[in-house]
Amino acid sequence: MNTYTEKDAELNPLDALREEHTEMRTALNKFGNILKKISDGVSDSELNEISQYLDKDVELHFKREEDALFPVLGNYIGIETGPINVMLIEHNSCRELTGDLKKRIEGKDYKSAASAGKALIELLSEHEDKEDGILFQIAEMQLSRDEKQDIMKKMITIN
Ligand SMILES: [Fe+2]
Ligand SMILES: [Fe+2]
Repeated sequence: MNTYTEKDAELNPLDALREEHTEMRTALNKFGNILKKISDGVSDSELNEISQYLDKDVELHFKREEDALFPVLGNYIGIETGPINVMLIEHNSCRELTGDLKKRIEGKDYKSAASAGKALIELLSEHEDKEDGILFQIAEMQLSRDEKQDIMKKMITIN
């Protein structure tokens, strides 16, 4: 996942997050293919790569949305109800499914690992599509230039 530095302070944070979604789609696609052949035997390093990506990269992306974007956008559309609330619930569902997947991989229960992985990939893909298609569109309309800049500055600190 991208790491941002001071030189990225001028980026539109929504563009940066959309780019992270693109990276995630590529990674999820690759993981889907690995999980499809899991019963024929896949290497531990391939499975570790999936676990690590979900734990580190996806978690970092969620944190950037939860700690930088959602609090500011929440001033306009609320956090306790509505689309941000739905996104937060989905982040937590993804975290739970990641925990399940890791447990099943550790237990070498590959068949159920594959099904947990498939559920997670589907949820995460649909989640990012909703953000791109709905939430970020609302954000583009509501947030001022200054607010976007503040969000990007905050994102730089989340690594
Ligand atoms: Fe999200
Ligand atoms: Fe996202």
